[in-house]
Amino acid sequence: FKKWGMTSSAIAATLLSDLVEKKDNPYESIFTPSRFHLNPGLQKVISYNADVAKHLIKGKLEKPDVQFEDIASGEGKAVTINGRRAGAFRDETGCLHFVDTTCTHLGCEVEWNDSEHTWDCPCHGSRFKPSGEVVEGPAIKPLKQIDLD
Ligand code: FES
Repeated sequence: FKKWGMTSSAIAATLLSDLVEKKDNPYESIFTPSRFHLNPGLQKVISYNADVAKHLIKGKLEKPDVQFEDIASGEGKAVTINGRRAGAFRDETGCLHFVDTTCTHLGCEVEWNDSEHTWDCPCHGSRFKPSGEVVEGPAIKPLKQIDLD
């Protein structure tokens, strides 16, 4: 109570006594437990973080059933390699390149952005080139490349 404990305790005692006796007390509204209202900004933060958690869990559970031969030139898709989600991109020469789709920022699973030809993270917006290099943060490290040889 920041040095107001003695004063507050006297008011609390009076208030409790009045509540028991069902009397009005001018301090009731100040000390009511429901006096806190969640700041709209905080509500937004909570909602945003719930969305991040949803993407994080959804991405970890996903096991894409995509065949490598179904990936066209210039296209990327989430695939499953050795039971784990990965990203596959076929370049213009027909070679496939694989990346770990775990975002290097906080671990969400990146998704292929077909119009930008980037791996985009749904959680905080990091973007990566098809080969995994960072295009835009907050991530600062590239996606890990996977070598199937
Ligand atoms: S987890 Fe990917 S940008 Fe934060």
